[in-house]
Amino acid sequence: MYLKTLIILVSLVSCSTNYKLAKLGKNQTRKEHEAVGSKYMITTPGKHASLAGKKMFEKGGNIVDAATAITFVLSVERPQSTGIGGGGFLLQKSADKIKAWDFREKAPLRSHSKIFLDKKGNEIKNKSRDGIFAAGVPGLVAGILEIHQKEGALPLKDVIAPAIDLAENGFTVYPELAFALEVREKVLFSYPSTRKIFFKSGNVLKEGDRLIQKDLANTLRSIAVFGRDGFYRGQVARQIINENKKWNGLISQKDLDLYNVKQRTPITGEYKGYKIISMPPPSSGGIHIIQILNILEKFDLKSWGIQNPKTIHYTASAMQQAFADRAKHLGDADFVHVPVYGLTSKGYAEEVRSKLTDKARSKEDVYPGKFSKKEADHTTHFTIMDDKGNVISSTQTVNGFFGSGLVVSGAGFFLNNEMDDFSTKPGAINLFGAVGGSKNLVEPEKRPLSSMSPSIVMKDGEVVMALGTPNGTRILTCVAQTILNYIEHKLPLYDSVMALRYHHQWHPDKIWIEEGFPEKTLADLKTRGHQFKEGGIWCKVQAIARENSKLIGVSDARGRGIAVGE
Ligand code: GLY
Repeated sequence: MYLKTLIILVSLVSCSTNYKLAKLGKNQTRKEHEAVGSKYMITTPGKHASLAGKKMFEKGGNIVDAATAITFVLSVERPQSTGIGGGGFLLQKSADKIKAWDFREKAPLRSHSKIFLDKKGNEIKNKSRDGIFAAGVPGLVAGILEIHQKEGALPLKDVIAPAIDLAENGFTVYPELAFALEVREKVLFSYPSTRKIFFKSGNVLKEGDRLIQKDLANTLRSIAVFGRDGFYRGQVARQIINENKKWNGLISQKDLDLYNVKQRTPITGEYKGYKIISMPPPSSGGIHIIQILNILEKFDLKSWGIQNPKTIHYTASAMQQAFADRAKHLGDADFVHVPVYGLTSKGYAEEVRSKLTDKARSKEDVYPGKFSKKEADHTTHFTIMDDKGNVISSTQTVNGFFGSGLVVSGAGFFLNNEMDDFSTKPGAINLFGAVGGSKNLVEPEKRPLSSMSPSIVMKDGEVVMALGTPNGTRILTCVAQTILNYIEHKLPLYDSVMALRYHHQWHPDKIWIEEGFPEKTLADLKTRGHQFKEGGIWCKVQAIARENSKLIGVSDARGRGIAVGE
Protein backbone atom coordinates (compact mmCIF):
# COMPACT_ATOMS: atom_id res chain seq x y z
CA MET A 1 0.00 0.00 0.00
CA TYR A 2 2.85 2.32 0.99
CA LEU A 3 4.65 1.60 -2.27
CA LYS A 4 1.50 2.25 -4.28
CA THR A 5 0.90 5.61 -2.56
CA LEU A 6 4.52 6.56 -3.16
CA ILE A 7 4.25 5.66 -6.86
CA ILE A 8 1.10 7.75 -7.21
CA LEU A 9 2.69 10.76 -5.43
CA VAL A 10 5.86 10.58 -7.52
CA SER A 11 3.87 10.36 -10.73
CA LEU A 12 1.61 13.26 -9.76
CA VAL A 13 4.63 15.44 -9.06
CA SER A 14 6.45 14.51 -12.28
CA CYS A 15 3.27 14.81 -14.32
CA SER A 16 2.64 18.33 -13.09
CA THR A 17 6.14 19.39 -14.10
CA ASN A 18 7.21 18.26 -17.53
CA TYR A 19 4.89 15.90 -19.34
CA LYS A 20 1.23 15.32 -19.98
CA LEU A 21 -0.84 12.19 -19.51
CA ALA A 22 -3.77 11.04 -21.66
CA LYS A 23 -7.37 11.45 -20.58
CA LEU A 24 -8.90 8.45 -18.85
CA GLY A 25 -11.61 6.47 -20.69
CA LYS A 26 -15.29 7.17 -20.09
CA ASN A 27 -16.29 6.54 -16.45
CA GLN A 28 -12.79 5.29 -15.59
CA THR A 29 -10.81 6.10 -12.46
CA ARG A 30 -7.14 5.39 -12.02
CA LYS A 31 -7.70 2.97 -9.14
CA GLU A 32 -8.77 -0.17 -11.02
CA HIS A 33 -6.07 0.24 -13.67
CA GLU A 34 -3.17 -0.14 -11.32
CA ALA A 35 -2.24 -2.89 -8.86
CA VAL A 36 0.70 -4.02 -6.79
CA GLY A 37 1.35 -7.64 -5.85
CA SER A 38 4.07 -10.12 -5.16
CA LYS A 39 2.64 -13.55 -6.08
CA TYR A 40 1.13 -12.77 -9.47
CA MET A 41 -0.08 -9.86 -11.57
CA ILE A 42 -2.57 -9.75 -14.44
CA THR A 43 -3.42 -6.89 -16.79
CA THR A 44 -6.03 -7.37 -19.49
CA PRO A 45 -8.40 -5.09 -21.40
CA GLY A 46 -11.45 -6.79 -19.85
CA LYS A 47 -12.68 -6.95 -16.26
CA HIS A 48 -14.16 -10.44 -16.66
CA ALA A 49 -10.93 -11.64 -18.28
CA SER A 50 -8.67 -10.33 -15.49
CA LEU A 51 -10.93 -11.89 -12.84
CA ALA A 52 -10.97 -15.23 -14.69
CA GLY A 53 -7.15 -15.21 -14.64
CA LYS A 54 -7.18 -14.47 -10.91
CA LYS A 55 -9.60 -17.35 -10.32
CA MET A 56 -7.18 -19.78 -11.98
CA PHE A 57 -4.36 -18.79 -9.62
CA GLU A 58 -6.75 -19.10 -6.68
CA LYS A 59 -7.67 -22.64 -7.80
CA GLY A 60 -4.00 -23.62 -7.75
CA GLY A 61 -3.50 -23.18 -11.48
CA ASN A 62 -0.37 -21.77 -13.07
CA ILE A 63 0.33 -18.85 -15.41
CA VAL A 64 -0.63 -20.93 -18.50
CA ASP A 65 -4.02 -21.79 -16.97
CA ALA A 66 -4.55 -18.07 -16.32
CA ALA A 67 -3.56 -17.20 -19.91
CA THR A 68 -5.90 -19.85 -21.32
CA ALA A 69 -8.86 -18.73 -19.22
CA ILE A 70 -8.17 -15.08 -20.14
CA THR A 71 -7.95 -15.93 -23.85
CA PHE A 72 -11.36 -17.61 -23.89
CA VAL A 73 -13.03 -14.95 -21.73
CA LEU A 74 -11.66 -12.14 -23.92
CA SER A 75 -13.15 -13.98 -26.91
CA VAL A 76 -16.56 -13.55 -25.29
CA GLU A 77 -16.10 -10.17 -23.62
CA ARG A 78 -14.45 -8.35 -26.53
CA PRO A 79 -15.93 -9.76 -29.77
CA GLN A 80 -14.97 -6.50 -31.50
CA SER A 81 -11.29 -7.14 -30.80
CA THR A 82 -10.59 -10.87 -30.64
CA GLY A 83 -12.31 -14.21 -30.75
CA ILE A 84 -11.97 -17.92 -31.41
CA GLY A 85 -12.35 -17.12 -35.11
CA GLY A 86 -9.09 -15.12 -34.97
CA GLY A 87 -5.44 -15.65 -34.08
CA GLY A 88 -2.48 -14.14 -32.28
CA PHE A 89 0.98 -14.41 -30.80
CA LEU A 90 2.18 -15.27 -27.30
CA LEU A 91 5.57 -14.68 -25.77
CA GLN A 92 6.28 -16.95 -22.83
CA LYS A 93 9.21 -16.75 -20.45
CA SER A 94 9.75 -19.53 -17.95
CA ALA A 95 12.69 -20.00 -15.60
CA ASP A 96 14.95 -21.43 -18.30
CA LYS A 97 13.61 -20.45 -21.72
CA ILE A 98 11.64 -17.99 -23.80
CA LYS A 99 9.17 -19.25 -26.38
CA ALA A 100 7.47 -17.25 -29.11
CA TRP A 101 4.19 -18.95 -30.07
CA ASP A 102 2.66 -18.09 -33.45
CA PHE A 103 -1.02 -18.90 -33.91
CA ARG A 104 -1.60 -16.30 -36.60
CA GLU A 105 -4.30 -17.02 -39.21
CA LYS A 106 -3.22 -18.59 -42.53
CA ALA A 107 -4.41 -17.88 -46.06
CA PRO A 108 -6.72 -20.66 -47.32
CA LEU A 109 -5.31 -23.20 -49.80
CA ARG A 110 -7.56 -21.90 -52.55
CA SER A 111 -6.43 -18.25 -52.15
CA HIS A 112 -3.95 -16.52 -54.47
CA SER A 113 -2.14 -13.21 -54.86
CA LYS A 114 -4.82 -11.56 -57.02
CA ILE A 115 -7.80 -12.59 -54.95
CA PHE A 116 -8.69 -9.02 -53.97
CA LEU A 117 -8.33 -7.55 -57.50
CA ASP A 118 -10.79 -7.27 -60.38
CA LYS A 119 -9.96 -8.23 -63.97
CA LYS A 120 -8.29 -4.85 -64.54
CA GLY A 121 -6.05 -5.31 -61.52
CA ASN A 122 -7.92 -2.79 -59.35
CA GLU A 123 -8.74 -3.54 -55.74
CA ILE A 124 -12.31 -4.71 -55.14
CA LYS A 125 -13.57 -2.37 -52.45
CA ASN A 126 -13.75 -3.94 -48.98
CA LYS A 127 -13.35 -7.53 -50.23
CA SER A 128 -10.37 -8.01 -47.91
CA ARG A 129 -12.22 -6.37 -44.99
CA ASP A 130 -15.86 -7.51 -44.93
CA GLY A 131 -17.37 -10.95 -45.33
CA ILE A 132 -16.11 -14.40 -46.16
CA PHE A 133 -13.03 -13.63 -48.30
CA ALA A 134 -11.61 -11.44 -45.54
CA ALA A 135 -11.17 -14.48 -43.30
CA GLY A 136 -7.95 -16.39 -42.84
CA VAL A 137 -7.96 -19.88 -41.32
CA PRO A 138 -8.37 -19.28 -37.55
CA GLY A 139 -5.43 -20.13 -35.28
CA LEU A 140 -6.39 -18.95 -31.80
CA VAL A 141 -7.97 -22.17 -30.53
CA ALA A 142 -5.16 -24.38 -31.86
CA GLY A 143 -2.56 -22.05 -30.35
CA ILE A 144 -3.87 -21.63 -26.84
CA LEU A 145 -4.87 -25.31 -26.57
CA GLU A 146 -1.40 -26.49 -27.61
CA ILE A 147 0.20 -24.26 -24.98
CA HIS A 148 -2.30 -25.39 -22.35
CA GLN A 149 -1.88 -29.06 -23.21
CA LYS A 150 1.90 -28.79 -22.84
CA GLU A 151 2.08 -26.60 -19.76
CA GLY A 152 -1.30 -26.08 -18.07
CA ALA A 153 -1.95 -27.60 -14.64
CA LEU A 154 -5.76 -27.47 -14.43
CA PRO A 155 -8.18 -29.51 -16.58
CA LEU A 156 -9.29 -27.74 -19.77
CA LYS A 157 -12.94 -27.79 -18.69
CA ASP A 158 -12.04 -25.73 -15.60
CA VAL A 159 -10.15 -23.06 -17.53
CA ILE A 160 -12.87 -22.69 -20.19
CA ALA A 161 -15.69 -22.60 -17.62
CA PRO A 162 -15.60 -18.81 -16.96
CA ALA A 163 -15.90 -18.10 -20.71
CA ILE A 164 -18.83 -20.52 -21.12
CA ASP A 165 -20.55 -18.92 -18.15
CA LEU A 166 -20.08 -15.39 -19.52
CA ALA A 167 -21.30 -16.34 -23.01
CA GLU A 168 -24.33 -18.22 -21.64
CA ASN A 169 -25.44 -15.61 -19.10
CA GLY A 170 -24.25 -12.51 -20.91
CA PHE A 171 -23.01 -9.13 -19.81
CA THR A 172 -23.95 -5.49 -20.23
CA VAL A 173 -22.81 -3.78 -23.41
CA TYR A 174 -20.10 -1.28 -22.39
CA PRO A 175 -19.31 2.03 -24.20
CA GLU A 176 -16.42 0.76 -26.39
CA LEU A 177 -18.40 -2.28 -27.54
CA ALA A 178 -21.42 -0.06 -28.28
CA PHE A 179 -19.16 2.29 -30.27
CA ALA A 180 -17.69 -0.56 -32.33
CA LEU A 181 -21.18 -1.95 -33.00
CA GLU A 182 -22.30 1.45 -34.23
CA VAL A 183 -19.25 1.82 -36.49
CA ARG A 184 -19.81 -1.60 -38.10
CA GLU A 185 -23.63 -1.63 -37.92
CA LYS A 186 -24.24 -1.79 -41.68
CA VAL A 187 -21.92 -4.74 -42.30
CA LEU A 188 -23.11 -6.61 -39.21
CA PHE A 189 -26.76 -6.15 -40.21
CA SER A 190 -26.10 -7.66 -43.64
CA TYR A 191 -25.45 -11.16 -42.20
CA PRO A 192 -28.49 -12.91 -40.62
CA SER A 193 -26.18 -14.99 -38.38
CA THR A 194 -24.65 -11.78 -36.97
CA ARG A 195 -27.98 -9.96 -36.79
CA LYS A 196 -29.45 -12.75 -34.64
CA ILE A 197 -26.93 -12.03 -31.84
CA PHE A 198 -26.03 -8.35 -32.05
CA PHE A 199 -29.40 -6.78 -32.93
CA LYS A 200 -32.61 -6.52 -30.89
CA SER A 201 -35.89 -5.77 -32.70
CA GLY A 202 -33.93 -4.67 -35.77
CA ASN A 203 -31.67 -2.28 -33.83
CA VAL A 204 -28.01 -2.82 -33.09
CA LEU A 205 -27.33 -3.38 -29.37
CA LYS A 206 -26.58 -0.20 -27.44
CA GLU A 207 -24.70 0.62 -24.24
CA GLY A 208 -26.63 -0.91 -21.33
CA ASP A 209 -28.23 -3.73 -23.40
CA ARG A 210 -27.38 -7.33 -22.51
CA LEU A 211 -25.23 -9.38 -24.89
CA ILE A 212 -25.96 -13.11 -24.64
CA GLN A 213 -23.99 -15.52 -26.87
CA LYS A 214 -25.56 -18.98 -26.42
CA ASP A 215 -24.22 -20.46 -29.68
CA LEU A 216 -20.73 -19.35 -28.68
CA ALA A 217 -21.22 -20.99 -25.26
CA ASN A 218 -22.02 -24.28 -27.06
CA THR A 219 -18.93 -23.97 -29.29
CA LEU A 220 -16.82 -23.38 -26.17
CA ARG A 221 -18.38 -26.49 -24.56
CA SER A 222 -17.38 -28.48 -27.64
CA ILE A 223 -13.78 -27.23 -27.28
CA ALA A 224 -13.83 -28.01 -23.53
CA VAL A 225 -14.83 -31.62 -24.24
CA PHE A 226 -12.98 -32.45 -27.48
CA GLY A 227 -10.04 -30.03 -27.38
CA ARG A 228 -8.71 -29.01 -30.80
CA ASP A 229 -11.07 -31.47 -32.53
CA GLY A 230 -13.99 -29.66 -30.91
CA PHE A 231 -13.26 -26.73 -33.24
CA TYR A 232 -11.25 -27.98 -36.24
CA ARG A 233 -13.29 -31.18 -36.76
CA GLY A 234 -16.85 -32.34 -36.11
CA GLN A 235 -19.86 -30.08 -35.81
CA VAL A 236 -18.08 -26.73 -35.41
CA ALA A 237 -15.83 -27.45 -38.40
CA ARG A 238 -18.93 -28.34 -40.44
CA GLN A 239 -20.51 -25.04 -39.41
CA ILE A 240 -17.40 -23.12 -40.57
CA ILE A 241 -17.36 -24.98 -43.89
CA ASN A 242 -21.11 -24.51 -44.43
CA GLU A 243 -20.73 -20.77 -43.85
CA ASN A 244 -17.98 -20.74 -46.47
CA LYS A 245 -20.13 -22.69 -48.93
CA LYS A 246 -23.06 -20.33 -48.36
CA TRP A 247 -20.97 -17.29 -49.42
CA ASN A 248 -18.69 -19.08 -51.94
CA GLY A 249 -15.80 -18.78 -49.48
CA LEU A 250 -12.50 -20.67 -49.59
CA ILE A 251 -11.97 -22.35 -46.22
CA SER A 252 -12.26 -26.15 -46.41
CA GLN A 253 -11.79 -29.07 -44.02
CA LYS A 254 -8.29 -29.47 -45.45
CA ASP A 255 -7.44 -25.91 -44.35
CA LEU A 256 -8.68 -26.68 -40.85
CA ASP A 257 -6.73 -29.96 -40.72
CA LEU A 258 -3.56 -28.25 -41.95
CA TYR A 259 -3.65 -25.39 -39.46
CA ASN A 260 -0.40 -25.59 -37.49
CA VAL A 261 0.88 -23.65 -34.50
CA LYS A 262 4.53 -22.56 -34.77
CA GLN A 263 7.12 -22.05 -32.10
CA ARG A 264 9.53 -19.42 -33.37
CA THR A 265 12.78 -17.92 -32.17
CA PRO A 266 12.03 -14.56 -30.52
CA ILE A 267 13.66 -11.40 -31.86
CA THR A 268 16.14 -9.90 -29.41
CA GLY A 269 17.96 -6.59 -29.27
CA GLU A 270 19.70 -4.38 -26.76
CA TYR A 271 19.08 -0.81 -25.65
CA LYS A 272 21.56 0.80 -23.22
CA GLY A 273 22.15 -2.49 -21.38
CA TYR A 274 18.52 -3.66 -21.44
CA LYS A 275 17.62 -6.77 -23.42
CA ILE A 276 14.48 -6.36 -25.56
CA ILE A 277 12.67 -9.56 -26.54
CA SER A 278 9.72 -9.55 -28.91
CA MET A 279 7.82 -11.31 -31.68
CA PRO A 280 9.53 -12.37 -34.94
CA PRO A 281 7.87 -12.53 -38.42
CA PRO A 282 5.14 -12.91 -39.46
CA SER A 283 4.94 -10.05 -37.00
CA SER A 284 6.88 -6.95 -37.94
CA GLY A 285 6.62 -5.77 -34.33
CA GLY A 286 9.78 -7.13 -32.76
CA ILE A 287 12.05 -6.15 -35.66
CA HIS A 288 10.84 -2.57 -35.83
CA ILE A 289 10.65 -1.96 -32.07
CA ILE A 290 14.32 -2.95 -31.89
CA GLN A 291 15.15 -0.94 -35.03
CA ILE A 292 13.51 2.20 -33.57
CA LEU A 293 15.28 1.75 -30.23
CA ASN A 294 18.62 1.14 -32.01
CA ILE A 295 18.27 4.39 -33.98
CA LEU A 296 17.41 6.35 -30.83
CA GLU A 297 20.02 4.76 -28.59
CA LYS A 298 22.76 7.31 -29.34
CA PHE A 299 20.54 10.33 -28.65
CA ASP A 300 20.21 11.71 -25.14
CA LEU A 301 16.42 11.66 -25.12
CA LYS A 302 16.28 11.82 -21.33
CA SER A 303 18.07 15.14 -21.15
CA TRP A 304 15.95 16.55 -23.99
CA GLY A 305 12.79 15.54 -22.09
CA ILE A 306 10.06 13.04 -22.89
CA GLN A 307 7.64 15.39 -24.68
CA ASN A 308 10.19 17.89 -25.92
CA PRO A 309 9.71 18.64 -29.67
CA LYS A 310 13.24 17.44 -30.42
CA THR A 311 12.54 14.07 -28.77
CA ILE A 312 9.26 13.75 -30.66
CA HIS A 313 10.93 14.74 -33.94
CA TYR A 314 13.75 12.16 -33.72
CA THR A 315 11.48 9.41 -32.39
CA ALA A 316 8.90 10.04 -35.14
CA SER A 317 11.72 10.06 -37.73
CA ALA A 318 12.91 6.66 -36.48
CA MET A 319 9.32 5.35 -36.74
CA GLN A 320 9.05 6.77 -40.28
CA GLN A 321 12.17 4.87 -41.38
CA ALA A 322 10.92 1.66 -39.73
CA PHE A 323 7.67 1.77 -41.71
CA ALA A 324 9.47 2.47 -45.00
CA ASP A 325 11.50 -0.70 -44.32
CA ARG A 326 8.40 -2.60 -43.24
CA ALA A 327 6.66 -1.97 -46.56
CA LYS A 328 9.67 -3.19 -48.54
CA HIS A 329 11.18 -6.01 -46.49
CA LEU A 330 8.56 -7.68 -44.30
CA GLY A 331 6.35 -10.70 -44.89
CA ASP A 332 5.95 -14.26 -43.59
CA ALA A 333 9.54 -15.47 -43.27
CA ASP A 334 8.36 -19.04 -44.06
CA PHE A 335 7.70 -17.75 -47.60
CA VAL A 336 9.98 -14.78 -48.25
CA HIS A 337 13.41 -13.64 -47.15
CA VAL A 338 13.20 -11.09 -44.29
CA PRO A 339 16.52 -9.36 -43.50
CA VAL A 340 16.06 -9.67 -39.73
CA TYR A 341 19.72 -9.32 -38.88
CA GLY A 342 20.25 -6.26 -41.11
CA LEU A 343 17.17 -4.41 -39.93
CA THR A 344 17.97 -4.95 -36.27
CA SER A 345 21.72 -4.33 -36.53
CA LYS A 346 23.47 -1.43 -34.82
CA GLY A 347 25.29 -0.73 -38.12
CA TYR A 348 22.04 -0.10 -39.98
CA ALA A 349 20.82 2.10 -37.11
CA GLU A 350 24.02 4.14 -37.48
CA GLU A 351 23.42 4.48 -41.23
CA VAL A 352 19.86 5.77 -40.62
CA ARG A 353 20.99 8.08 -37.82
CA SER A 354 23.53 9.70 -40.15
CA LYS A 355 20.66 10.78 -42.40
CA LEU A 356 18.59 12.40 -39.64
CA THR A 357 18.77 16.15 -39.03
CA ASP A 358 16.68 18.61 -37.03
CA LYS A 359 14.28 18.83 -39.98
CA ALA A 360 11.62 16.30 -41.04
CA ARG A 361 12.32 14.13 -44.09
CA SER A 362 9.52 13.91 -46.62
CA LYS A 363 8.16 10.48 -47.51
CA GLU A 364 10.03 10.56 -50.83
CA ASP A 365 13.35 11.18 -49.04
CA VAL A 366 13.07 8.05 -46.95
CA TYR A 367 14.40 4.94 -48.70
CA PRO A 368 14.17 1.42 -47.34
CA GLY A 369 17.59 -0.04 -46.48
CA LYS A 370 19.46 -2.45 -48.75
CA PHE A 371 20.55 -5.76 -47.24
CA SER A 372 22.55 -8.74 -48.37
CA LYS A 373 20.59 -11.96 -48.85
CA LYS A 374 23.41 -13.91 -47.27
CA GLU A 375 22.75 -12.86 -43.70
CA ALA A 376 21.45 -15.12 -40.95
CA ASP A 377 18.47 -15.17 -41.63
CA HIS A 378 -8.37 -3.32 -34.09
CA THR A 379 -6.85 -6.63 -31.44
CA THR A 380 -6.34 -7.24 -27.75
CA HIS A 381 -3.45 -7.88 -25.38
CA PHE A 382 -2.87 -9.28 -21.92
CA THR A 383 0.17 -9.67 -19.70
CA ILE A 384 0.73 -11.95 -16.69
CA MET A 385 3.69 -12.41 -14.33
CA ASP A 386 4.20 -14.58 -11.30
CA ASP A 387 6.66 -14.80 -8.44
CA LYS A 388 8.51 -17.73 -10.06
CA GLY A 389 9.85 -15.60 -12.88
CA ASN A 390 7.21 -16.77 -15.39
CA VAL A 391 5.87 -14.21 -17.84
CA ILE A 392 3.18 -14.41 -20.51
CA SER A 393 2.55 -11.56 -22.92
CA SER A 394 -0.01 -12.26 -25.65
CA THR A 395 -1.68 -10.23 -28.40
CA GLN A 396 -4.75 -11.76 -30.04
CA THR A 397 -7.11 -10.47 -32.68
CA VAL A 398 -9.78 -10.80 -35.34
CA ASN A 399 -8.18 -7.68 -36.95
CA GLY A 400 -10.77 -4.87 -37.48
CA PHE A 401 -13.84 -4.41 -35.30
CA PHE A 402 -15.67 -7.79 -35.35
CA GLY A 403 -13.25 -9.08 -38.03
CA SER A 404 -15.15 -9.93 -41.23
CA GLY A 405 -18.47 -9.03 -39.56
CA LEU A 406 -19.69 -12.53 -40.39
CA VAL A 407 -20.72 -14.85 -37.55
CA VAL A 408 -20.52 -18.58 -38.32
CA SER A 409 -24.19 -19.66 -38.24
CA GLY A 410 -24.97 -21.76 -35.20
CA ALA A 411 -21.41 -21.48 -33.83
CA GLY A 412 -21.72 -17.91 -32.57
CA PHE A 413 -18.26 -16.49 -33.36
CA PHE A 414 -16.95 -14.01 -35.92
CA LEU A 415 -14.58 -15.01 -38.67
CA ASN A 416 -11.57 -12.68 -38.71
CA ASN A 417 -10.68 -10.22 -41.51
CA GLU A 418 -6.97 -10.87 -41.25
CA MET A 419 -6.60 -11.33 -45.04
CA ASP A 420 -6.57 -7.51 -45.11
CA ASP A 421 -3.18 -7.61 -43.40
CA PHE A 422 -1.80 -9.05 -46.65
CA SER A 423 -0.98 -6.61 -49.48
CA THR A 424 -3.94 -6.74 -51.86
CA LYS A 425 -1.34 -5.58 -54.42
CA PRO A 426 2.11 -3.98 -54.06
CA GLY A 427 1.77 -0.42 -52.82
CA ALA A 428 -1.85 -0.82 -51.65
CA ILE A 429 -2.93 0.47 -48.25
CA ASN A 430 -4.45 -1.74 -45.55
CA LEU A 431 -7.11 -0.99 -42.93
CA PHE A 432 -4.47 0.75 -40.79
CA GLY A 433 -3.19 2.88 -43.67
CA ALA A 434 0.08 0.93 -43.96
CA VAL A 435 1.66 0.33 -47.35
CA GLY A 436 2.09 -3.31 -48.35
CA GLY A 437 4.89 -4.71 -50.50
CA SER A 438 5.33 -7.74 -52.72
CA LYS A 439 6.75 -9.88 -49.91
CA ASN A 440 3.36 -9.71 -48.23
CA LEU A 441 1.15 -10.80 -51.16
CA VAL A 442 -1.40 -13.58 -50.54
CA GLU A 443 -0.18 -17.16 -51.03
CA PRO A 444 -1.87 -20.37 -49.89
CA GLU A 445 -0.97 -21.18 -46.26
CA LYS A 446 1.03 -17.95 -45.85
CA ARG A 447 0.49 -15.86 -42.71
CA PRO A 448 -0.28 -12.15 -43.17
CA LEU A 449 2.21 -9.59 -41.88
CA SER A 450 1.34 -8.30 -38.42
CA SER A 451 2.45 -5.54 -36.06
CA MET A 452 1.50 -7.42 -32.91
CA SER A 453 4.34 -7.15 -30.45
CA PRO A 454 4.08 -9.02 -27.16
CA SER A 455 7.38 -7.98 -25.58
CA ILE A 456 9.60 -8.52 -22.54
CA VAL A 457 12.44 -6.27 -21.30
CA MET A 458 15.23 -7.75 -19.16
CA LYS A 459 18.36 -6.50 -17.45
CA ASP A 460 21.17 -8.62 -15.99
CA GLY A 461 19.08 -11.75 -16.54
CA GLU A 462 16.07 -10.42 -14.62
CA VAL A 463 12.71 -9.42 -16.06
CA VAL A 464 12.19 -5.65 -15.88
CA MET A 465 8.85 -5.35 -17.66
CA ALA A 466 6.46 -7.14 -20.03
CA LEU A 467 3.92 -5.43 -22.22
CA GLY A 468 1.90 -5.25 -25.40
CA THR A 469 -1.13 -3.54 -26.90
CA PRO A 470 -3.75 -3.69 -29.65
CA ASN A 471 -4.08 -1.17 -32.52
CA GLY A 472 -2.62 -2.39 -35.81
CA THR A 473 0.44 -0.53 -37.00
CA ARG A 474 0.36 1.69 -33.90
CA ILE A 475 1.16 -1.36 -31.78
CA LEU A 476 4.87 -1.29 -32.39
CA THR A 477 5.26 2.46 -31.87
CA CYS A 478 3.13 2.41 -28.70
CA VAL A 479 5.20 -0.48 -27.31
CA ALA A 480 8.48 1.27 -28.26
CA GLN A 481 7.34 4.52 -26.59
CA THR A 482 6.21 2.76 -23.41
CA ILE A 483 9.58 0.98 -23.16
CA LEU A 484 11.39 4.30 -23.70
CA ASN A 485 9.19 6.06 -21.13
CA TYR A 486 10.06 3.44 -18.55
CA ILE A 487 13.72 2.65 -19.13
CA GLU A 488 15.02 5.87 -20.76
CA HIS A 489 12.86 8.59 -19.20
CA LYS A 490 12.48 6.64 -15.93
CA LEU A 491 8.79 7.43 -15.54
CA PRO A 492 6.70 5.38 -13.10
CA LEU A 493 4.93 2.53 -14.91
CA TYR A 494 1.51 4.21 -14.77
CA ASP A 495 2.87 7.38 -16.38
CA SER A 496 4.88 5.35 -18.89
CA VAL A 497 1.60 3.84 -20.06
CA MET A 498 -0.48 7.01 -19.78
CA ALA A 499 1.94 9.59 -21.23
CA LEU A 500 0.57 11.14 -24.44
CA ARG A 501 1.59 9.18 -27.53
CA TYR A 502 2.44 9.89 -31.15
CA HIS A 503 2.92 7.71 -34.21
CA HIS A 504 4.58 7.95 -37.64
CA GLN A 505 4.25 5.18 -40.25
CA TRP A 506 5.96 6.77 -43.29
CA HIS A 507 2.72 6.73 -45.26
CA PRO A 508 0.79 8.95 -44.91
CA ASP A 509 3.51 11.51 -44.34
CA LYS A 510 2.47 12.89 -40.95
CA ILE A 511 2.61 12.36 -37.22
CA TRP A 512 -0.54 11.13 -35.52
CA ILE A 513 -0.75 12.70 -32.07
CA GLU A 514 -2.97 12.16 -29.08
CA GLU A 515 -4.99 15.16 -28.02
CA GLY A 516 -3.32 17.29 -25.34
CA PHE A 517 0.14 18.28 -26.63
CA PRO A 518 0.81 21.99 -25.97
CA GLU A 519 0.44 24.35 -28.94
CA LYS A 520 4.06 25.44 -28.65
CA THR A 521 5.29 21.84 -29.01
CA LEU A 522 3.28 21.43 -32.20
CA ALA A 523 4.42 24.82 -33.50
CA ASP A 524 8.06 23.79 -33.00
CA LEU A 525 7.47 20.49 -34.83
CA LYS A 526 5.81 22.37 -37.69
CA THR A 527 8.92 24.51 -38.13
CA ARG A 528 10.86 21.23 -38.55
CA GLY A 529 8.55 20.31 -41.42
CA HIS A 530 6.13 17.89 -39.74
CA GLN A 531 2.42 17.68 -40.41
CA PHE A 532 -0.07 16.35 -37.86
CA LYS A 533 -3.30 14.53 -37.45
CA GLU A 534 -4.90 14.55 -34.04
CA GLY A 535 -6.41 11.23 -32.89
CA GLY A 536 -6.10 7.84 -34.53
CA ILE A 537 -4.00 6.20 -31.80
CA TRP A 538 -6.09 3.73 -29.84
CA CYS A 539 -3.43 1.61 -28.17
CA LYS A 540 -4.42 0.17 -24.80
CA VAL A 541 -1.12 -0.98 -23.32
CA GLN A 542 -1.18 -3.79 -20.73
CA ALA A 543 2.10 -3.65 -18.81
CA ILE A 544 3.67 -5.27 -15.76
CA ALA A 545 6.97 -4.25 -14.21
CA ARG A 546 9.02 -5.96 -11.53
CA GLU A 547 10.35 -3.40 -9.03
CA ASN A 548 12.27 -4.67 -5.99
CA SER A 549 10.44 -8.02 -6.01
CA LYS A 550 7.06 -6.25 -6.27
CA LEU A 551 4.91 -6.75 -9.35
CA ILE A 552 3.36 -3.49 -10.57
CA GLY A 553 0.51 -3.89 -13.04
CA VAL A 554 -0.97 -1.15 -15.21
CA SER A 555 -3.90 -1.64 -17.55
CA ASP A 556 -4.13 1.39 -19.85
CA ALA A 557 -6.71 3.74 -18.30
CA ARG A 558 -7.78 4.96 -21.75
CA GLY A 559 -9.70 1.66 -21.81
CA ARG A 560 -11.67 -0.37 -19.29
CA GLY A 561 -9.27 -3.22 -18.53
CA ILE A 562 -8.19 -3.88 -14.98
CA ALA A 563 -4.99 -4.86 -13.21
CA VAL A 564 -5.34 -7.50 -10.50
CA GLY A 565 -2.65 -9.09 -8.39
CA GLU A 566 -1.81 -10.55 -5.07
N1 GLY B 1 -4.30 -7.24 -37.36
C1 GLY B 1 -3.38 -6.29 -36.93
C2 GLY B 1 -1.99 -6.81 -36.86
O1 GLY B 1 -1.81 -8.02 -36.84
O2 GLY B 1 -1.06 -6.04 -36.83
